[in-house]
Amino acid sequence: MAFDTIIRGGTIATASDTFTCDIGITGGRIAALGDNLGAAAEIVDATGKLVLPGGIDSHVHIAQPSGPGIVMADDFASATRSAAFGGNTMVLPFAMQQKGESLRQVVTSYHAKAEGHCYVDVSFHLIIADATDAVLGQELPALVEDGYTSFKVFMTYEGLALSDLEMLNVMSVARETGALVMIHAENYDAIRFLTDKLERAGKTAPHFHATSRPIPVEREATHRAISLSELVDVPIMIVHVSNGEAMEEIRRAQQRGLKVYGETCPQYLVLTEKDLEGLNMEGAKYVCSPPPRDKASQQACWQGLQQGVFSLFSSDHCPFKYDDPQGKLAPKGRTSFRWVPNGIPGVETRLPILFSEGVGKGRISLNEFVALTATNHARTYGLYPKKGTIAVGADADIAIWDPDKEQTISQSLMHGGSDYTPYEGIKVKGWPVSTMVRGKFVVRDGKLVGAEGGGAYVTRAKSEFAKPRGAAHV
Ligand code: URP
Ligand code: ZN
Ligand code: ZN
Repeated sequence: MAFDTIIRGGTIATASDTFTCDIGITGGRIAALGDNLGAAAEIVDATGKLVLPGGIDSHVHIAQPSGPGIVMADDFASATRSAAFGGNTMVLPFAMQQKGESLRQVVTSYHAKAEGHCYVDVSFHLIIADATDAVLGQELPALVEDGYTSFKVFMTYEGLALSDLEMLNVMSVARETGALVMIHAENYDAIRFLTDKLERAGKTAPHFHATSRPIPVEREATHRAISLSELVDVPIMIVHVSNGEAMEEIRRAQQRGLKVYGETCPQYLVLTEKDLEGLNMEGAKYVCSPPPRDKASQQACWQGLQQGVFSLFSSDHCPFKYDDPQGKLAPKGRTSFRWVPNGIPGVETRLPILFSEGVGKGRISLNEFVALTATNHARTYGLYPKKGTIAVGADADIAIWDPDKEQTISQSLMHGGSDYTPYEGIKVKGWPVSTMVRGKFVVRDGKLVGAEGGGAYVTRAKSEFAKPRGAAHV
Protein backbone atom coordinates (compact mmCIF):
# COMPACT_ATOMS: atom_id res chain seq x y z
CA MET A 1 0.00 0.00 0.00
CA ALA A 2 1.42 3.41 -0.92
CA PHE A 3 0.61 6.30 1.42
CA ASP A 4 0.23 9.96 0.60
CA THR A 5 2.87 10.77 3.21
CA ILE A 6 5.09 8.91 5.63
CA ILE A 7 6.68 10.70 8.59
CA ARG A 8 9.78 8.71 9.43
CA GLY A 9 12.46 8.65 12.09
CA GLY A 10 10.93 10.91 14.74
CA THR A 11 10.13 10.18 18.37
CA ILE A 12 6.35 10.06 18.70
CA ALA A 13 4.65 10.97 21.97
CA THR A 14 0.98 10.66 22.89
CA ALA A 15 -0.71 11.32 26.22
CA SER A 16 0.25 7.80 27.34
CA ASP A 17 3.24 6.55 25.33
CA THR A 18 6.52 7.52 23.70
CA PHE A 19 7.75 5.37 20.80
CA THR A 20 9.50 5.38 17.45
CA CYS A 21 7.87 4.25 14.20
CA ASP A 22 6.70 5.48 10.82
CA ILE A 23 3.39 7.30 10.51
CA GLY A 24 1.58 6.48 7.26
CA ILE A 25 -0.95 9.10 6.19
CA THR A 26 -3.63 8.71 3.54
CA GLY A 27 -6.59 10.97 2.78
CA GLY A 28 -5.75 13.27 5.69
CA ARG A 29 -5.87 10.50 8.29
CA ILE A 30 -3.34 8.32 10.01
CA ALA A 31 -3.62 5.02 8.12
CA ALA A 32 -0.82 3.04 9.75
CA LEU A 33 1.78 3.14 12.51
CA GLY A 34 4.67 0.72 12.11
CA ASP A 35 8.25 0.12 11.08
CA ASN A 36 9.31 0.29 7.43
CA LEU A 37 5.88 1.21 6.14
CA GLY A 38 7.21 1.30 2.58
CA ALA A 39 6.28 3.67 -0.20
CA ALA A 40 4.62 7.07 -0.14
CA ALA A 41 4.26 10.03 -2.46
CA GLU A 42 6.29 11.96 0.12
CA ILE A 43 8.61 10.88 2.89
CA VAL A 44 9.13 13.41 5.69
CA ASP A 45 12.36 12.85 7.60
CA ALA A 46 11.79 13.66 11.28
CA THR A 47 15.07 12.25 12.57
CA GLY A 48 16.06 14.00 15.81
CA LYS A 49 12.64 15.59 16.13
CA LEU A 50 9.59 15.02 18.33
CA VAL A 51 6.37 14.14 16.52
CA LEU A 52 3.39 15.17 18.66
CA PRO A 53 -0.35 15.53 18.25
CA GLY A 54 -0.99 19.09 17.06
CA GLY A 55 -1.89 21.41 19.89
CA ILE A 56 -5.57 22.12 20.49
CA ASP A 57 -6.12 25.50 22.10
CA SER A 58 -9.64 25.31 23.49
CA HIS A 59 -9.78 28.86 24.84
CA VAL A 60 -9.18 31.62 22.30
CA HIS A 61 -11.06 34.81 21.45
CA ILE A 62 -11.08 35.87 17.81
CA ALA A 63 -12.80 38.88 16.21
CA GLN A 64 -15.10 39.44 19.18
CA PRO A 65 -16.74 42.86 19.55
CA SER A 66 -14.89 44.49 22.44
CA GLY A 67 -16.55 47.77 23.27
CA PRO A 68 -16.79 51.22 21.66
CA GLY A 69 -13.68 52.16 19.67
CA ILE A 70 -11.85 48.93 20.44
CA VAL A 71 -11.06 46.25 17.89
CA MET A 72 -9.53 42.86 18.55
CA ALA A 73 -6.13 42.50 16.90
CA ASP A 74 -6.85 39.16 15.25
CA ASP A 75 -9.30 38.06 12.62
CA PHE A 76 -9.66 34.36 11.84
CA ALA A 77 -6.83 34.41 9.29
CA SER A 78 -4.23 36.02 11.54
CA ALA A 79 -5.22 34.11 14.69
CA THR A 80 -5.18 30.70 13.03
CA ARG A 81 -1.92 31.48 11.18
CA SER A 82 -0.37 32.40 14.51
CA ALA A 83 -1.81 29.23 16.04
CA ALA A 84 -0.21 27.10 13.30
CA PHE A 85 3.23 28.65 13.89
CA GLY A 86 2.77 27.84 17.57
CA GLY A 87 2.31 24.12 16.86
CA ASN A 88 -1.49 24.09 17.00
CA THR A 89 -3.73 22.28 14.55
CA MET A 90 -7.05 23.35 16.04
CA VAL A 91 -8.50 26.23 18.05
CA LEU A 92 -11.85 26.66 19.79
CA PRO A 93 -12.92 30.32 19.73
CA PHE A 94 -16.16 31.70 21.14
CA ALA A 95 -19.28 32.82 19.31
CA MET A 96 -20.27 35.57 21.75
CA GLN A 97 -23.88 36.60 22.27
CA GLN A 98 -24.50 40.22 23.27
CA LYS A 99 -27.64 41.41 25.04
CA GLY A 100 -30.67 41.23 22.78
CA GLU A 101 -29.04 38.99 20.17
CA SER A 102 -30.41 35.69 18.97
CA LEU A 103 -27.90 32.90 19.62
CA ARG A 104 -28.56 31.33 16.24
CA GLN A 105 -27.80 34.62 14.50
CA VAL A 106 -24.62 34.98 16.55
CA VAL A 107 -23.45 31.55 15.40
CA THR A 108 -24.26 32.36 11.78
CA SER A 109 -22.31 35.60 11.95
CA TYR A 110 -19.21 33.92 13.47
CA HIS A 111 -19.32 31.26 10.76
CA ALA A 112 -19.34 34.06 8.18
CA LYS A 113 -16.28 35.63 9.84
CA ALA A 114 -14.38 32.32 9.88
CA GLU A 115 -15.46 30.66 6.63
CA GLY A 116 -12.65 30.54 4.07
CA HIS A 117 -10.15 32.28 6.36
CA CYS A 118 -8.75 29.64 8.71
CA TYR A 119 -5.34 28.01 8.46
CA VAL A 120 -6.10 25.37 11.12
CA ASP A 121 -9.34 23.64 12.10
CA VAL A 122 -11.83 25.46 14.32
CA SER A 123 -14.96 24.76 16.33
CA PHE A 124 -17.03 27.25 18.32
CA HIS A 125 -18.03 27.41 21.95
CA LEU A 126 -20.93 29.75 22.69
CA ILE A 127 -20.97 32.64 25.18
CA ILE A 128 -24.37 33.14 26.84
CA ALA A 129 -24.87 36.77 27.86
CA ASP A 130 -28.66 37.03 27.62
CA ALA A 131 -30.34 34.05 29.27
CA THR A 132 -33.86 34.79 28.02
CA ASP A 133 -36.66 32.22 27.96
CA ALA A 134 -36.24 31.87 24.19
CA VAL A 135 -32.49 31.26 24.55
CA LEU A 136 -32.88 28.74 27.37
CA GLY A 137 -36.00 27.04 26.08
CA GLN A 138 -35.34 26.83 22.37
CA GLU A 139 -32.12 28.25 20.92
CA LEU A 140 -29.59 26.74 23.28
CA PRO A 141 -30.98 23.16 23.30
CA ALA A 142 -31.20 23.23 19.49
CA LEU A 143 -27.63 24.52 19.14
CA VAL A 144 -26.29 21.84 21.50
CA GLU A 145 -27.96 19.21 19.30
CA ASP A 146 -26.27 20.86 16.29
CA GLY A 147 -22.82 20.32 17.81
CA TYR A 148 -22.21 23.53 19.81
CA THR A 149 -21.75 21.38 22.88
CA SER A 150 -20.04 23.78 25.27
CA PHE A 151 -20.65 27.33 26.37
CA LYS A 152 -19.10 29.93 28.60
CA VAL A 153 -20.81 32.10 31.18
CA PHE A 154 -19.34 35.07 32.99
CA MET A 155 -19.71 36.02 36.65
CA THR A 156 -18.22 39.46 35.88
CA TYR A 157 -17.95 42.10 33.11
CA GLU A 158 -20.59 44.68 32.32
CA GLY A 159 -23.08 43.34 29.82
CA LEU A 160 -21.91 39.76 30.27
CA ALA A 161 -22.20 38.90 33.98
CA LEU A 162 -25.05 36.53 34.84
CA SER A 163 -26.82 36.59 38.20
CA ASP A 164 -26.77 33.42 40.31
CA LEU A 165 -30.34 32.72 39.21
CA GLU A 166 -29.37 33.06 35.56
CA MET A 167 -26.35 30.81 36.14
CA LEU A 168 -28.60 28.15 37.69
CA ASN A 169 -31.01 28.37 34.76
CA VAL A 170 -28.21 28.04 32.23
CA MET A 171 -26.64 25.17 34.16
CA SER A 172 -29.98 23.43 34.25
CA VAL A 173 -30.19 23.57 30.43
CA ALA A 174 -26.64 22.22 30.23
CA ARG A 175 -27.64 19.30 32.44
CA GLU A 176 -30.69 18.51 30.33
CA THR A 177 -28.82 18.76 27.03
CA GLY A 178 -25.45 17.26 28.01
CA ALA A 179 -23.47 20.42 27.28
CA LEU A 180 -20.37 21.46 29.22
CA VAL A 181 -20.46 24.83 31.03
CA MET A 182 -17.26 26.88 31.13
CA ILE A 183 -17.18 29.48 33.88
CA HIS A 184 -15.30 32.76 34.24
CA ALA A 185 -15.26 32.99 38.02
CA GLU A 186 -14.75 36.49 39.46
CA ASN A 187 -17.13 38.38 41.76
CA TYR A 188 -18.55 41.29 39.72
CA ASP A 189 -19.86 43.38 42.62
CA ALA A 190 -16.60 43.07 44.54
CA ILE A 191 -14.66 44.23 41.48
CA ARG A 192 -17.03 47.19 41.00
CA PHE A 193 -16.68 48.14 44.66
CA LEU A 194 -12.88 47.98 44.56
CA THR A 195 -12.63 49.73 41.18
CA ASP A 196 -14.77 52.66 42.38
CA LYS A 197 -12.69 52.96 45.55
CA LEU A 198 -9.40 52.90 43.65
CA GLU A 199 -10.62 55.52 41.18
CA ARG A 200 -11.82 57.82 43.95
CA ALA A 201 -8.32 57.60 45.43
CA GLY A 202 -6.78 58.48 42.05
CA LYS A 203 -5.29 55.01 41.71
CA THR A 204 -5.93 54.49 38.02
CA ALA A 205 -2.65 53.18 36.53
CA PRO A 206 -2.81 49.78 34.79
CA HIS A 207 -1.36 47.88 37.74
CA PHE A 208 -4.39 48.79 39.83
CA HIS A 209 -6.28 46.43 37.55
CA ALA A 210 -4.70 43.64 39.61
CA THR A 211 -5.57 45.42 42.88
CA SER A 212 -9.20 45.64 41.77
CA ARG A 213 -9.47 41.85 41.29
CA PRO A 214 -7.48 40.24 44.13
CA ILE A 215 -7.44 36.51 44.86
CA PRO A 216 -10.53 36.46 47.16
CA VAL A 217 -12.61 37.85 44.27
CA GLU A 218 -11.69 34.78 42.22
CA ARG A 219 -11.75 32.30 45.11
CA GLU A 220 -15.24 33.32 46.21
CA ALA A 221 -16.68 33.13 42.70
CA THR A 222 -15.01 29.76 42.13
CA HIS A 223 -16.55 28.43 45.34
CA ARG A 224 -19.96 29.85 44.38
CA ALA A 225 -19.83 28.42 40.86
CA ILE A 226 -18.99 25.01 42.29
CA SER A 227 -21.85 25.23 44.81
CA LEU A 228 -24.35 26.25 42.12
CA SER A 229 -23.22 23.40 39.86
CA GLU A 230 -23.57 20.98 42.79
CA LEU A 231 -27.17 22.09 43.35
CA VAL A 232 -28.01 21.43 39.72
CA ASP A 233 -25.70 18.40 39.40
CA VAL A 234 -23.94 19.59 36.27
CA PRO A 235 -20.27 19.21 35.35
CA ILE A 236 -18.37 22.50 34.95
CA MET A 237 -15.00 23.72 33.71
CA ILE A 238 -13.53 26.63 35.67
CA VAL A 239 -11.42 28.44 33.10
CA HIS A 240 -8.23 30.53 33.44
CA VAL A 241 -7.51 29.76 37.12
CA SER A 242 -4.73 32.06 38.37
CA ASN A 243 -3.86 31.06 41.94
CA GLY A 244 -3.68 28.43 44.66
CA GLU A 245 -6.80 29.42 46.59
CA ALA A 246 -9.09 29.01 43.58
CA MET A 247 -7.20 25.85 42.63
CA GLU A 248 -7.80 24.41 46.12
CA GLU A 249 -11.55 25.05 45.76
CA ILE A 250 -11.50 22.95 42.60
CA ARG A 251 -9.39 20.25 44.24
CA ARG A 252 -11.78 20.04 47.20
CA ALA A 253 -14.74 19.71 44.84
CA GLN A 254 -12.97 16.95 42.92
CA GLN A 255 -12.15 15.15 46.18
CA ARG A 256 -15.85 15.29 47.07
CA GLY A 257 -16.59 13.50 43.80
CA LEU A 258 -17.98 16.50 41.94
CA LYS A 259 -17.37 16.80 38.22
CA VAL A 260 -15.50 20.08 38.43
CA TYR A 261 -12.63 20.58 36.00
CA GLY A 262 -9.97 23.26 35.83
CA GLU A 263 -7.93 25.13 33.25
CA THR A 264 -4.88 27.36 33.65
CA CYS A 265 -2.86 29.43 31.17
CA PRO A 266 0.74 30.58 30.48
CA GLN A 267 0.20 34.03 32.01
CA TYR A 268 -0.31 32.39 35.42
CA LEU A 269 2.94 30.43 35.15
CA VAL A 270 5.39 33.05 33.89
CA LEU A 271 3.92 36.52 34.49
CA THR A 272 3.21 38.30 37.77
CA GLU A 273 1.33 41.37 38.96
CA LYS A 274 4.68 43.22 38.80
CA ASP A 275 4.50 43.08 35.00
CA LEU A 276 1.54 45.47 35.15
CA GLU A 277 3.81 48.11 36.69
CA GLY A 278 5.43 49.18 33.40
CA LEU A 279 6.34 52.79 32.68
CA ASN A 280 3.40 55.07 31.83
CA MET A 281 0.71 52.83 30.34
CA GLU A 282 3.04 49.94 29.35
CA GLY A 283 1.44 47.82 32.07
CA ALA A 284 -1.70 47.74 29.92
CA LYS A 285 0.06 45.11 27.80
CA TYR A 286 -0.47 42.64 30.66
CA VAL A 287 -4.05 43.54 31.62
CA CYS A 288 -6.12 40.38 31.56
CA SER A 289 -8.64 38.82 33.91
CA PRO A 290 -8.00 37.20 36.26
CA PRO A 291 -4.70 39.11 36.48
CA PRO A 292 -1.29 37.46 36.83
CA ARG A 293 -0.51 37.15 40.58
CA ASP A 294 2.73 36.32 42.43
CA LYS A 295 5.39 33.62 42.60
CA ALA A 296 3.40 31.54 45.11
CA SER A 297 0.42 31.57 42.75
CA GLN A 298 2.64 30.47 39.87
CA GLN A 299 3.89 27.62 42.04
CA ALA A 300 0.33 26.63 42.89
CA CYS A 301 -0.68 26.62 39.23
CA TRP A 302 2.24 24.31 38.46
CA GLN A 303 1.01 22.00 41.23
CA GLY A 304 -2.49 22.11 39.74
CA LEU A 305 -1.04 20.91 36.45
CA GLN A 306 1.22 18.28 38.01
CA GLN A 307 -1.45 16.85 40.30
CA GLY A 308 -4.24 16.74 37.71
CA VAL A 309 -6.45 19.40 39.31
CA PHE A 310 -6.12 21.24 36.00
CA SER A 311 -6.75 19.07 32.98
CA LEU A 312 -6.40 21.85 30.43
CA PHE A 313 -3.64 24.30 29.59
CA SER A 314 -5.01 26.93 27.20
CA SER A 315 -3.85 30.37 26.10
CA ASP A 316 -6.98 32.51 26.65
CA HIS A 317 -5.64 34.31 23.56
CA CYS A 318 -7.50 37.63 23.45
CA PRO A 319 -5.28 40.04 21.51
CA PHE A 320 -5.36 43.80 21.30
CA LYS A 321 -2.72 46.05 19.80
CA TYR A 322 -0.85 48.32 22.19
CA ASP A 323 0.30 51.17 19.96
CA ASP A 324 -2.95 51.64 18.10
CA PRO A 325 -5.97 53.95 18.49
CA GLN A 326 -8.27 50.92 18.60
CA GLY A 327 -6.09 48.94 21.01
CA LYS A 328 -5.14 48.74 24.67
CA LEU A 329 -5.23 52.50 25.27
CA ALA A 330 -8.50 53.28 23.47
CA PRO A 331 -10.72 55.13 23.80
CA LYS A 332 -8.65 58.29 24.11
CA GLY A 333 -8.93 60.31 27.28
CA ARG A 334 -10.03 57.36 29.40
CA THR A 335 -6.79 56.65 31.17
CA SER A 336 -8.05 54.52 34.06
CA PHE A 337 -7.32 50.77 34.11
CA ARG A 338 -11.11 50.40 34.05
CA TRP A 339 -11.11 51.15 30.31
CA VAL A 340 -8.18 48.99 29.25
CA PRO A 341 -9.55 46.06 27.23
CA ASN A 342 -8.95 42.81 29.07
CA GLY A 343 -6.92 40.17 27.31
CA ILE A 344 -3.47 39.35 25.93
CA PRO A 345 -2.14 37.48 22.89
CA GLY A 346 -0.78 33.97 23.50
CA VAL A 347 -1.91 31.34 20.99
CA GLU A 348 1.56 31.16 19.40
CA THR A 349 3.58 31.03 22.62
CA ARG A 350 1.43 28.67 24.75
CA LEU A 351 3.16 25.46 23.68
CA PRO A 352 6.81 26.60 23.65
CA ILE A 353 6.39 28.11 27.13
CA LEU A 354 4.90 24.93 28.64
CA PHE A 355 7.34 22.70 26.79
CA SER A 356 10.39 24.65 27.94
CA GLU A 357 9.29 25.52 31.47
CA GLY A 358 7.45 22.24 32.01
CA VAL A 359 9.09 19.38 30.10
CA GLY A 360 12.49 21.05 29.76
CA LYS A 361 12.74 21.83 33.48
CA GLY A 362 11.39 18.45 34.61
CA ARG A 363 8.12 19.74 36.05
CA ILE A 364 5.94 17.60 33.77
CA SER A 365 6.61 14.66 31.46
CA LEU A 366 6.37 14.85 27.68
CA ASN A 367 3.22 12.69 27.84
CA GLU A 368 1.65 15.05 30.37
CA PHE A 369 2.52 17.92 28.04
CA VAL A 370 0.61 16.20 25.21
CA ALA A 371 -2.36 15.51 27.49
CA LEU A 372 -2.52 19.08 28.80
CA THR A 373 -2.17 20.74 25.42
CA ALA A 374 -4.00 18.41 23.00
CA THR A 375 -5.57 15.14 24.16
CA ASN A 376 -7.49 16.47 27.16
CA HIS A 377 -8.90 19.31 25.05
CA ALA A 378 -10.19 16.79 22.51
CA ARG A 379 -11.70 14.61 25.25
CA THR A 380 -13.22 17.52 27.13
CA TYR A 381 -14.88 19.08 24.12
CA GLY A 382 -16.17 16.10 22.13
CA LEU A 383 -13.40 15.77 19.55
CA TYR A 384 -11.65 12.57 20.65
CA PRO A 385 -10.35 10.29 19.08
CA LYS A 386 -10.62 12.10 15.75
CA LYS A 387 -8.47 14.89 17.21
CA GLY A 388 -5.86 15.11 19.93
CA THR A 389 -3.85 11.94 19.46
CA ILE A 390 -1.63 9.98 17.10
CA ALA A 391 -3.52 6.76 16.39
CA VAL A 392 -4.75 4.85 13.38
CA GLY A 393 -7.98 6.47 12.16
CA ALA A 394 -7.31 9.87 13.75
CA ASP A 395 -6.92 13.00 11.66
CA ALA A 396 -3.27 13.53 10.76
CA ASP A 397 -2.98 16.67 12.90
CA ILE A 398 0.68 16.68 13.80
CA ALA A 399 3.32 19.07 15.09
CA ILE A 400 7.00 18.34 14.53
CA TRP A 401 9.19 19.84 17.23
CA ASP A 402 12.89 20.54 17.45
CA PRO A 403 13.43 19.84 21.16
CA ASP A 404 16.86 21.51 21.13
CA LYS A 405 16.02 24.73 19.34
CA GLU A 406 16.59 27.73 21.58
CA GLN A 407 14.59 30.91 21.01
CA THR A 408 14.09 34.15 22.85
CA ILE A 409 10.41 34.96 22.50
CA SER A 410 10.02 38.21 20.63
CA GLN A 411 7.31 40.03 18.73
CA SER A 412 9.51 39.78 15.63
CA LEU A 413 8.93 35.99 15.67
CA MET A 414 5.14 36.22 15.95
CA HIS A 415 2.62 35.78 13.14
CA GLY A 416 -0.60 37.18 14.64
CA GLY A 417 -2.26 40.57 14.48
CA SER A 418 -1.03 42.11 17.72
CA ASP A 419 1.97 44.45 17.87
CA TYR A 420 3.49 43.01 21.04
CA THR A 421 3.86 39.79 22.99
CA PRO A 422 3.58 39.85 26.79
CA TYR A 423 6.23 37.10 26.81
CA GLU A 424 8.93 39.27 25.15
CA GLY A 425 12.42 38.23 26.24
CA ILE A 426 11.53 34.86 27.75
CA LYS A 427 14.10 32.25 26.72
CA VAL A 428 12.76 28.85 25.70
CA LYS A 429 14.29 25.59 24.54
CA GLY A 430 12.12 23.50 22.20
CA TRP A 431 10.17 24.93 19.28
CA PRO A 432 7.50 23.63 16.87
CA VAL A 433 9.06 23.74 13.40
CA SER A 434 6.34 22.17 11.25
CA THR A 435 2.57 21.84 11.63
CA MET A 436 0.37 19.54 9.58
CA VAL A 437 -3.45 19.69 9.55
CA ARG A 438 -5.26 16.64 8.18
CA GLY A 439 -2.13 15.47 6.38
CA LYS A 440 -1.20 18.80 4.79
CA PHE A 441 1.60 21.04 6.04
CA VAL A 442 0.47 24.50 7.08
CA VAL A 443 3.88 25.47 8.44
CA ARG A 444 6.94 23.60 7.15
CA ASP A 445 10.43 24.17 8.54
CA GLY A 446 9.33 27.54 9.92
CA LYS A 447 7.68 28.75 6.71
CA LEU A 448 4.00 29.25 5.95
CA VAL A 449 2.99 26.80 3.21
CA GLY A 450 -0.72 26.37 4.00
CA ALA A 451 -3.54 28.30 2.41
CA GLU A 452 -5.99 30.67 4.07
CA GLY A 453 -9.18 28.60 4.06
CA GLY A 454 -7.33 25.28 4.45
CA GLY A 455 -8.71 24.96 7.98
CA ALA A 456 -12.16 23.44 8.34
CA TYR A 457 -15.03 23.86 10.79
CA VAL A 458 -15.38 20.74 12.96
CA THR A 459 -18.75 19.78 14.45
CA ARG A 460 -18.37 18.33 17.92
CA ALA A 461 -19.99 15.49 19.84
CA LYS A 462 -21.08 15.97 23.44
CA SER A 463 -18.27 15.98 25.97
CA GLU A 464 -17.47 12.65 27.59
CA PHE A 465 -17.00 14.67 30.81
CA ALA A 466 -20.41 16.38 30.72
CA LYS A 467 -22.51 13.51 32.04
CA PRO A 468 -24.23 14.43 35.33
CA ARG A 469 -23.60 12.30 38.41
CA GLY A 470 -27.32 11.81 39.01
CA ALA A 471 -27.47 13.78 42.24
CA ALA A 472 -29.47 16.95 41.62
CA HIS A 473 -31.03 18.59 44.70
CA VAL A 474 -34.44 18.87 43.03
O1 URP B 1 -8.80 39.10 30.17
C1 URP B 1 -9.27 38.16 29.56
N1 URP B 1 -9.15 36.95 30.01
N2 URP B 1 -9.91 38.38 28.42
C2 URP B 1 -10.54 37.44 27.64
C3 URP B 1 -11.95 37.23 28.05
C4 URP B 1 -12.05 36.23 29.13
O2 URP B 1 -12.54 36.56 30.18
O3 URP B 1 -11.65 35.09 28.95
ZN1 ZN C 1 -12.93 34.63 30.94
ZN1 ZN D 1 -11.06 33.96 27.70
